[in-house]
Amino acid sequence: MAIDVSELIPQQTTPVNSRWRRIVTPIPVPESVPVIERLRAVEPRSMGGMPPILWHEAEGFLVRDPFGNQWIDLTSGIVVANAGHSHPRILDAIRQATDRRLLATYAFPSQARLQLLEKLVALSPIPDSKAILFCSGTEAAECAMTVMRRYGHHKHSDKTGILSFAGSFHGRTLAASLAGGTQQPSDWIDRADVHHFQVPFPDCPRCPWGKPQYDQCGETCFQNCLESLSRRGIGPERIAGVILEPVPGWSTCAMPADFAAAMAAWAKKNDVLIAFDEIQCGCGRTGKLFAGEHLNLVPDLIALGKGLTSSLPVSAVIGRRELLDQAVPGEMSSTHGGNPVCVAAALANLQVIENEQLVKASAQTGARVLESLRSLKNEFPDHVQAVNGLGLFISIHLRRPDDGQPDVQLADAVAQEAIRRGVLMFTTGRGYLKITPPLSIDADAVMEAADVLKCSLLTLLTPISA
Ligand SMILES: Cc1ncc(COP(=O)(O)O)c(C=O)c1O
Repeated sequence: MAIDVSELIPQQTTPVNSRWRRIVTPIPVPESVPVIERLRAVEPRSMGGMPPILWHEAEGFLVRDPFGNQWIDLTSGIVVANAGHSHPRILDAIRQATDRRLLATYAFPSQARLQLLEKLVALSPIPDSKAILFCSGTEAAECAMTVMRRYGHHKHSDKTGILSFAGSFHGRTLAASLAGGTQQPSDWIDRADVHHFQVPFPDCPRCPWGKPQYDQCGETCFQNCLESLSRRGIGPERIAGVILEPVPGWSTCAMPADFAAAMAAWAKKNDVLIAFDEIQCGCGRTGKLFAGEHLNLVPDLIALGKGLTSSLPVSAVIGRRELLDQAVPGEMSSTHGGNPVCVAAALANLQVIENEQLVKASAQTGARVLESLRSLKNEFPDHVQAVNGLGLFISIHLRRPDDGQPDVQLADAVAQEAIRRGVLMFTTGRGYLKITPPLSIDADAVMEAADVLKCSLLTLLTPISA
């Protein structure tokens, strides 16, 4: 039976003691309940969406609580720890950085910032690029949108719209810019009308236009999107840029390359910029260093975050030099962007991803897990709608047999059951399970976790009397 995360009622568990998993208490752990209750008393309800596991230590692909339980981590935090939790090289880099007694530099020149920026520019698929550092993914996504709006506004005062895709996620604070008080230099914000337009994402298993299956129809699909915009009176003359996750976090399925090509051709013709939000799908997660490689398309801007450090907060925007150079000195910066300690962690993280060949590991291990999980579709055809993935970016979409809608309750119940068996998941609240372990995970461990997921689903779908 599902545990309601809001309830905090300890449930008995069957003891687990495998090479990697150890469950020795009821879940939630009775001793953790007062701590979680105190947290809930002081932070907003919005923070209470995750299963009630008190994180104490996270190392590699293992997460431990203070009560003797240990989980195989399929979350990487929330798709952060690509190089693994507490990687020794990242820890060393952080220690060395703090020993230098330089803990904040704002936009004053620093060696640390230089090293990371040079590294990002060297890795960038965008020719002649520059890069800028922030802390959160949201800041990076906002920066990309700001740069596009500024560019569009330069062409024509009405060309400030941002096109995005339904279901996508880019962060939580566009309001920060809209709420800012200065007129100059933020006249391009256009407070009278926020100018955000959305079209359906080409989610082929659930085609927004009702086609039974993908049939090289990306170009037509993009035309359908344009027509839906045109029916709302929106043409390219009002659009400054498109922001998209090349492999969205909710579908873990790449935008079809023919759709991307049609979009790119339209963008080029109409002077519309393209920004990839790779905050979640970047840094090797999908089996490519940049997820955009799956689309065969070089964008104008790329936003990175999360797996860029596997640890402390660093985000970045990489983009064409002339775009990032639009803002004058002081106009595009962030107090803690490029913090020397965080930047040292990011640099060490990129070195670990390179040295340990984690992009290749993600592709290879991910392919094995995906193959194993795909059998679920045959085993439970009424409940499993799709199993998608690229690299270690995998999702299992569950549906209700009666109406075919996403089965939110079942998906979250499976995640809770897996936790009780020693596999750490997050609940998505959207009817799917997400499998995003550290890229460095031992292949046998992730296969064991996949088996636990399958057994959890089977248990929940098997009537108790059986
Ligand atoms: C695709 C994507 N963009 C932006 C963000 C926002 O990042 P942050 O929470 O670091 O602000 C997220 C976070 O989950 C994300 O997944």
